[in-house]
This record gives sequence, structure tokens and C-alpha cells, in this order.
Amino acid sequence: MDCIDIRQIGTHLNKEVCLKGWVYNLRSSGQIFFLQLRDGTGTIQAVANKAEMAEGGFERCSKVTQESSVKLTGKVVSEKRSPSGFELHVNDITIIHRAEEYPIAKKEHGIEFLLDNRHLWIRSSKQAAILIIRDQVIWSMRSFFREKGFILTDTPILTPTSCEGTTTLFSTDYFGQTAYLAQSGQLYLEALAASLGKVYDFGPTFRAEKSKTRRHLMEFWMLDAEAAFMEHEESLKLQEELICRIAGDVVRNCEKELTILGRPLEPLKNITAPFPRLTYDEAVEWLMKNGSDIKSGDDLGADDETLLSNHHKKPVFITNFPTAIKAFYMKPLPDNPERVLCADLLAPEGYGEIIGGSQRIDDLALLKKRFVEQKLPVEPFEWYLDLRRYGSFPHSGFGVGLERVVTWMCKLDHVREAIPFPRLLNRLKP
Ligand code: 4AD
Ligand code: MG
Repeated sequence: MDCIDIRQIGTHLNKEVCLKGWVYNLRSSGQIFFLQLRDGTGTIQAVANKAEMAEGGFERCSKVTQESSVKLTGKVVSEKRSPSGFELHVNDITIIHRAEEYPIAKKEHGIEFLLDNRHLWIRSSKQAAILIIRDQVIWSMRSFFREKGFILTDTPILTPTSCEGTTTLFSTDYFGQTAYLAQSGQLYLEALAASLGKVYDFGPTFRAEKSKTRRHLMEFWMLDAEAAFMEHEESLKLQEELICRIAGDVVRNCEKELTILGRPLEPLKNITAPFPRLTYDEAVEWLMKNGSDIKSGDDLGADDETLLSNHHKKPVFITNFPTAIKAFYMKPLPDNPERVLCADLLAPEGYGEIIGGSQRIDDLALLKKRFVEQKLPVEPFEWYLDLRRYGSFPHSGFGVGLERVVTWMCKLDHVREAIPFPRLLNRLKP
């Protein structure tokens, strides 16, 4: 008999099936064993009754331990009390591997212990639910961009320069030269936009963030989007549409996972365009009145983002930051060189920044001036300046932090659970 996935169980009512998976919980009561089986596609309760089992089957059940891998054969019956509506009445069991005593017990464990055992912790129902939602967010983004006519293309990870400032670079030896791990694919994507028009990349990015926060990973996945001839305003509209699409898909397709996580659906159902907007100057004024010690000209701190983000039910754009605190490539406002055409999108419910984007400088002379002001070496960026020498074009783009979005969708306390194997300030293992 071929085995089926647990998710297919509903189409096999009153039939004999075979299932393979892991026993995540078990108890016995006299002549009956209750085994909770999971296989990644679902979970089911299997009932092994001594009287109904093949020769030796019941004795084998008594040897099963938590997380043993097993093959079960039996009949699918309907069972209203079970969450799936079904139960398996087992007639035989094969122990594929009898697990040693499993380190993650049902009792509460501390976070460091769970992170040390991340390779096992990901088997738990909550962690698996988060990873399923992560998959949904990725597919929503990919489908969205494909439908909008964007081409998926790839940017390098080993690079000779920085994209987002030099303070968070990871470096490595590249045959005697220094190579840096990419902080964002943006600069290369700008070159690709001049070839393909509308483009996006999606891959791991790296930042040596020396601070320990709930929002920072050293290795995280970013989707950068860039479009030729797209002005700042159009870029904001695209970001709005993207976020509405993600939230809508997650609510529609991941209700089971959101329920496992205890994540209320209502706040996600409220995510509709348009999103509120505040300029940086308006945001600073509001923050000063609402308990922040921010001064005009400062970047928003994590606490400032939390204040703004808690105050709104929808994501909120903070636009037009001071030129002095933003990256070299951002285009100034036509009527105010002290402010740039940029936006950070802050998620609601206290989550803070999920997207950073801007219109890019398309004037060669101005870009060169920025290199001098920001004390960046010009030589490694000559190729980037070429984009302003050969058919320069107005263009804008943005970067979405996957784990930040997943953390918000799942309403997690910390970004470390939104990636299978988090890389944190004090953690490179497992
Ligand atoms: O705002 P950032 O730094 O923007 C850029 O890198 C641009 N070059 C993107 C572009 O215009 N193509 O990063 C983009 C997003 C942030 O909004 C945040 O969601 C996420 O990446 N991010 C991080 N996520 C987790 N851990 C970190 N250390 C992150 N740093 C940024
Ligand atoms: Mg940013």
C-alpha cells in the first residue's frame, strides 16, 4: 500500500491507508494507545486498540517514544471531537527509528535552550506554522511582482563595496582583496533596470548589526524591487498594493496557522490602501509631543518607530527624511535639497520598519558630489556612475525585509523566530 500525506486524509474516509511520520505525543490507557502523528502536511490522532491490531503490533506501540519515526496502517474514521474531524484506527505499526529521549519536553524551556536546539525546535507546531506563513509571504511577493511584469533577477552576494553604509559590513578575504557580503542588491538592480525595465531580486543579505534588538538579524532575506521611469509616488503605491496583497493572502490561506499562533485576524483584515503618510518633519513633531526625546535631524530610533507604529492601525509611510542621515543615492526633493524622496514603511501593532525605499539620484554631477560629502571612494563605484553616463533615467525602488513582514503577520515578539536558522549578535549555531 502506498502511503498518503496526512493532509489527504479527508478523501480516504472509511478506507485503509498507510501514513509515515513522527509521533509528537503519546499516552496509553490499558489496552489502548493514543499516538499523535505529524508528517509536515498535517497531524492526526491514531488510536491503537490491542484487540484490533496485527500480531505484535500492540507490543511495538509500547516501545514508541516521543519523536520516533513510524509507519502506521489503519482505517480512517470520522471523529467529531478531533480538530481534523478524523482519526486513524491503527491495525499495524512499524517503528522506522526509535527516538532517544527527546530534549524538548512539554515543559516550558528558556529561549537560549530553544535556540541551541533550533534544529529540533522547528518541529513544534508553532514554529512550523511560522515557516508555512513565511512560505506564503514569499509566494505572495513573487506572484505579485510577476503579475506586475517585473523580472526576477539576481544580484551578487560577494561585492567590492557597501550599499547601506560602511558600519554594518561583513568582510571576507577574496584572494587578497577585501570582499563584503551584500547589504542589499539595490545598486546592481539599478543596472538591471536599465536592461529589463522592471526588476526584483530576492535573497539573503547581511548586516553586522552590533545592537541586540527584537528587529535585527545579521543574515536576513530581502526583496529589492526597482523600476525604470518609476517616480517616488508610484513606488509608494506599489508598496501599498504589495503589502495589501501579502496580508490578504495570509488571511485567506493561512487561517489554520494564524490560529495555532493565536494571531488575531482582524488587524490583518484592516490592511487596505491607502496607507497614512507623515513626512519626517511631521513625524518628529508628533513624536516630541508624545514622549520621545528625538530632535529634528536625528534618525528615528527603535522606540520612535514603536510609538508611531502603535499609533496606527495600518502601515504608515514616513517620507522625506533629512538628506544628511540617508544613503548617498537618494534623490533630493525638487524644492528642498535638505530632504530626500524616500520613505520607510512602518508596520502597525508596534512592529516598525518593514520597507525602505527611495527615488534614486539620476544626475551624474550630484551623485559625484554625494561621494565627496559621504567620503566614499569613487573608484569601486565607477560602474554605478556609468548608469548616469549612458541614458540616465528617473527610477525608484525599495527593499522589503522578509523576516520583519513575517514577524508582523505572525505577531511574534522577536524576528529570530521568523527565519529557520537565525544569525544573531551572539549566535552562529546551529
Ligand atoms: O531600509 P534598508 O536598509 O534599505 C535598503 O537596503 C535599500 N537598499 C533597499 C532598496 O531600496 N532596494 O533595508 C530594507 C529593509 C528594511 O526596511 C527592513 O525591513 C529590512 O530590510 N532590514 C532588516 N531585517 C532584519 N534584520 C536587519 N538587520 C535588517 N536591516 C534591514
Ligand atoms: Mg531602512
